[in-house]
Amino acid sequence: MKKYIKIDEWNIIEEGFDPHLNKISESIFSLGNGRMGQRANFEETYSGETLPGNYVAGVYYPDKTRVGWWKNGYPESFAKVLNAANWIGIEIKIDYETLDLDNCKVTDFKRVLNMKEGYLERSFTAELKSGKKLKVKATRFCSIVDDEAGAIRYSLTPLNFDSAVTITPFIDGDVKNQDANYDEKFWDEVHKETHHGSAYLNLRTKKTGFHVCTGMKFAIEQNGKIVEFSSVPVEREKYVANKVTLSVKEKQETVIYKYAVNLSSENHDKELLVHETKKVIEHISQKGFALMLKEQAQAWAAKWVESDIVIEGDASAQQGIRFNIFQLNQTYTGEDARLNIGPKGFTGEKYGGSTYWDTEAYCVPFYLATADEQVTKNLLIYRYKQLDKAIENAKKLGFKNGAALYPMVTMNGEECHNEWEITFEEIHRNGAIAFAIYNYIRYTGDAQYLNDYGLEVLVAIARFWSQRVNWSADKSQYVMLGVTGPNEYENNVNNNWYTSTIATWCMEYALEALATVKASDAAKYAAIVKKIRFKEAEESEQWQHIIDNMYYPVDERLGVFLQQDGYLDKELILVKDLPAEDRPLNQKWSWDRILRSCYIKQADVLQGLYFLEDRYDLETIRRNFDFYEPLTVHESSLSPCVHAILAAKLGDETRAYEFYLRTARLDLDDYNNDTEDGCHTTSMAGTWMSVVEGFGGMRVRDNQLQFHPFLPGKWASFSFKVGFRGSLLNVKVSKEGVQIINQSDKALSVNVFDKHYDLAGNAQLIVEHALAN
Ligand code: BGC
Repeated sequence: MKKYIKIDEWNIIEEGFDPHLNKISESIFSLGNGRMGQRANFEETYSGETLPGNYVAGVYYPDKTRVGWWKNGYPESFAKVLNAANWIGIEIKIDYETLDLDNCKVTDFKRVLNMKEGYLERSFTAELKSGKKLKVKATRFCSIVDDEAGAIRYSLTPLNFDSAVTITPFIDGDVKNQDANYDEKFWDEVHKETHHGSAYLNLRTKKTGFHVCTGMKFAIEQNGKIVEFSSVPVEREKYVANKVTLSVKEKQETVIYKYAVNLSSENHDKELLVHETKKVIEHISQKGFALMLKEQAQAWAAKWVESDIVIEGDASAQQGIRFNIFQLNQTYTGEDARLNIGPKGFTGEKYGGSTYWDTEAYCVPFYLATADEQVTKNLLIYRYKQLDKAIENAKKLGFKNGAALYPMVTMNGEECHNEWEITFEEIHRNGAIAFAIYNYIRYTGDAQYLNDYGLEVLVAIARFWSQRVNWSADKSQYVMLGVTGPNEYENNVNNNWYTSTIATWCMEYALEALATVKASDAAKYAAIVKKIRFKEAEESEQWQHIIDNMYYPVDERLGVFLQQDGYLDKELILVKDLPAEDRPLNQKWSWDRILRSCYIKQADVLQGLYFLEDRYDLETIRRNFDFYEPLTVHESSLSPCVHAILAAKLGDETRAYEFYLRTARLDLDDYNNDTEDGCHTTSMAGTWMSVVEGFGGMRVRDNQLQFHPFLPGKWASFSFKVGFRGSLLNVKVSKEGVQIINQSDKALSVNVFDKHYDLAGNAQLIVEHALAN
C-alpha cells in the first residue's frame, strides 16, 4: 500500500520524482480513447525502470502456449495484448548530453492526470551533469474525438544556458512485450518513410498479420511563433525519426507539437494504410493542438454528464471513484462491437486477452447505467459474433448439437487460457454471458434483442449445460462434476452450488426467451429454430427435466448452500484467525495448501445470491453471507464489490463501506502492490457498483428503477448519474433524504424506499428520509 498520490477531486497528482514508483505511476497515469491507449511512459529518453506500453485495441499476437505437460483440448496459443510502436518519443540532447531523468538531478517534478478534460501533464526541472538546467512541461492525450490520434505539446526552457539543442521526434516499432516467450519480437516492418517534419512506419504482426501504420508530424514554436527548421531523417529497422538542431536561449521556451496516429488494418484497407494515415495526420495537424485539446475537454465533459459520481465530505473517495469512472470510459467507448474490456484495459499487458467474464458480470452494469444502450449492446453483440467459435470450442471438448462454451479468456473468440482447471472447468462464465443478456433487457426493455441476437446465444449455452450435467443413479438427480467455481482456490470440485444454480437458471431463461420470441415474431422464431436445428419438444423437455431434478448441495443444519460437495469437511478456521504473515495466501502458501484449505478467493455462493437475489429471502442471504464472508480472503479485486452490495442489502452499512474501501483506491494507493503491471480496470466497474447498487441500493424491477440508499462513512452526501430508458437522472443521497433530478424531457416513475413516485421530465423529486452516518 502506498499513499503518494495527492488528493484532489478532479486530478491525479504525483509530486516529486521517485524512480521506484515510476512503473506504478506509468499505470495510474495511463491514457486511452477506446481505440488505442498507453502507459504514462516519458516522451524523452529514460534509462531507469520502466514498462513501455502502447496498445492498439483489437490487435493481438497469439503467443505459443507454454505448459509443462500438454493436455488434449488446450488452446494452441495465448493471445497477448501487444505492445505496439511507441509514438510519444522525443529525444532531447543539449549539446552532447541526452535528457534522461535517470541521469540527472530532477526537481519540481509533477505529474497530473486531468480527468475532467482527459489529458496528462508532466513538468520538472532537470539539472544535467554539466550543470545546465532546463524546465520541461509535457502535455499529451489520446483524443476521444479523433480516436486514432494522439497529440503532445512538449515545452523546454533553458534556465541557465544558451546552447544547441537536438530534438528528435521518433516512432519506434522495435519494441517487445515484457512477457514475450523467448524474448521474441512480434512485429515485422512493412514500410517506412521519413519526410521533413513527418514520418510513417507501417508494421505487421507476425502470425496474425494485423497491419498498424503509425504516423507522426511535428511543428516547433519559439517565442510563440512556429519556426522553420531543417531536419535530418533517421531510419533504422522499425524506427523512423527526424533530427532537428536548433539554438535555444536562456529563458526562451521552445515547444514541440507532435501529432501521431495509429491506423490499423482492422479499420482500413491494408493496401491504403499509409495513404490513410497521412490523411488523418493532415487532418489533426491542421486542427492543431489547442483545438484538439478543446474538443477533448468537451467530449470528456459530455461523458461526465452521464457518468459522474459526486461525493461530498470525502475528497479521497471522490478522487478514487472518478479515477475508476475515467479509466473505464477511456478503455471502452462502445463504438465498435469487435472490442472489449481487458482486465488491465490499456494500462498494461498482463492477463493477455481482452475478454473475461469480468465484462458481463461487472462492466455491463456500469455501461448500462452510464452510457447509451448501444454501448452495452455492442458488448453483447461481441459475444454473439463469437458464437460460432464458442460452439467450435465446445465441440473440441466433446460437446455436440450446437452447444457453446465461451472461452475464459479471448481476443477473437478462441480460448486462450491454458490451465486445465480454468480452461475446461471454470465454465460458469457461460452463465455470466447469459445473465448479461437478461440484465441488458431488464434494464433497457429492448426485448427485440432476443429476436435479433440473444436467443441463439441462450440456446447454445443451455445446450452446453444440458450436456455438461449427468444423471446420478445414486442421487436420482442431475449432478455437475469436475468444475471450478468463481472461487479459483478450489478446482475440480463436484456440484459447485453457484455453477449448478446459474446453469439451471440459464436453461430456464432460454426456455422463457424461446417463448418470448415465438410469441412476438413467429416467423423469426421459425427461422431461428431452423438455423440452429432446435428440436423444440425434445430439447425443451430435457432442459425442464434437468431444471426440475438438479442436485444442489445444501447444509440443512447451518441453513446454507454448500459451495460444493464436501466443503464442510475442511478445517474451518476463519480468515481473521490466520496469522497476518500468511496473507495474501496466493503469495505465501503453496498452491496445494490453498486448494485443500477452506479459503475463498472471491464471491462464489455469494455471487449467485447477488445475481439472483430476488429468488432468496433476506434471511437466506444473511445466513450465507455470515457463513462465507468470514472464510473469504478477497484475493481477487472482483470480490469486495459483491460483498459490499450484499452487506448493504442486509443493512450492514459499516461493512458495506469497509468492503467498498478495499477497491475504491486499489490502484491509486497500490493496495495490492501490483499496480506496476497495470490497473485493475474491470474491477473498477465493481467499485462503481458498490456505490450505485450498494450505497444507492439501485435495482431495476418491473421496468422501473428502485432506490434504497444509505449514506456511508464520513460522507456528507453522494450523488450519481444514471440513464434509464431515455431519461437521465441525478440521484443525490444526503442526511435529509433523497433528491432525484430528472435531467431529461422524458417522464418516468421511480421507487424510493418502497414507495412509488411519478417524475415528470426536467422535474425533481425530494423524498425526505433521515439518513444518519
Ligand atoms: C479472477 C477471475 C477474473 C480474472 C481477470 C482472476 O483473478 O479470479 O474471476 O476473471 O482474475 O480479472
